[in-house]
Amino acid sequence: MTDDNFSPLLELKNVSKTFLLKPLFGQEKRVDALRNVSLKLEAGRALAIVGESGSGKSTVGRAVTRLFQPTSGNILFAGRDIGGLTTAADQMTYLRMVQMVFQDPFAALNPAHRIRHHLFRPLILHQGLKGDALEAAARQTLADVELDPNVTLDKYPHELSGGQRQRVNLARALAVDARLIVADEPTSMLDVSIRRSVLDLMRRLKLERGIGFLYITHDIATAHYIAEDTAVMFAGQIVEYGPSASVIRNPQHPYTRLLLSAVPDPAVRIAGRSGEQGQSFSTHAETVRDASRRPVGQSVEVTPGHFVFHHIDMNPSTGEAA
Ligand SMILES: Nc1ncnc2c1ncn2[C@@H]1O[C@H](COP(=O)(O)OP(=O)(O)OP(=O)(O)O)[C@@H](O)[C@H]1O
Ligand SMILES: [Mg+2]
Repeated sequence: MTDDNFSPLLELKNVSKTFLLKPLFGQEKRVDALRNVSLKLEAGRALAIVGESGSGKSTVGRAVTRLFQPTSGNILFAGRDIGGLTTAADQMTYLRMVQMVFQDPFAALNPAHRIRHHLFRPLILHQGLKGDALEAAARQTLADVELDPNVTLDKYPHELSGGQRQRVNLARALAVDARLIVADEPTSMLDVSIRRSVLDLMRRLKLERGIGFLYITHDIATAHYIAEDTAVMFAGQIVEYGPSASVIRNPQHPYTRLLLSAVPDPAVRIAGRSGEQGQSFSTHAETVRDASRRPVGQSVEVTPGHFVFHHIDMNPSTGEAA
């Protein structure tokens, strides 16, 4: 697999994913988890995918990590359509370069093995290291994620804090020289006091190593801390997309405003908390959600690179049915 220096690291073109749920009794149910999702991510940058539960964020991550095939559309990595990676060698290379960090820091760590084992394995498999070189590389990888190798190497996962475990997960991605890390709510199970330091580490890996991050979060207000760009998703569609600062300070889509209105920080709280004509917040929220489920049509570029998608039959500023 060759790198193409001119293409984005990752590009999704009109990716859709429909799940068909077949209950034992009754009708088959269709879930349109992704609807024509298009996005781009450059190396050394982060793109936040924000939205409430069920909006399709993790489905984007799982499609990128090839846990399933999209129903339609294309996923390109360094310019190559990953659907066209047919040889086992190309598929392995892709799965090595694209690593996932999960919400639950325990998820990918076998509790029966020490951290040494978790790092040795990828270093042996992907870099062919052994002996002193293997030991040295494992120690360096831990140092790279700001963990003390003397203390950490011989610990079991349960002997570490959640933040330390998440650092080990990032170290494993470094051990295989990942180029893209899909981080799905990587800090939401961590103590509030250490979330920032894990985000700081990811930000450093992004800048110093040119790793691209797909940062999946429900927290629109902190997305800009790591991600240059933000995509707001609802009901499987991207409804707004652009530079994070612009999306947060100048939100255009009624659903983005709704997300921001739930943020306690006054600096990012935006007008539009409720319908101005005395409508309650929850009624207003339901109106916006209902309208935002409709298929998106035209996108409008508000400021350079900042796009808002309009829905069929929706008043773009209030979110009311037109
Ligand atoms: N394997 C699956 N089979 C059936 N439906 C699925 C599957 N995976 C996801 N879905 C559905 O697709 C939709 C999007 O799910 P997804 O997990 O991507 O949401 P999310 O934005 O990550 O939510 P959360 O914030 O709760 O993690 C949901 O309606 C979900 O029930
Ligand atoms: Mg999810």
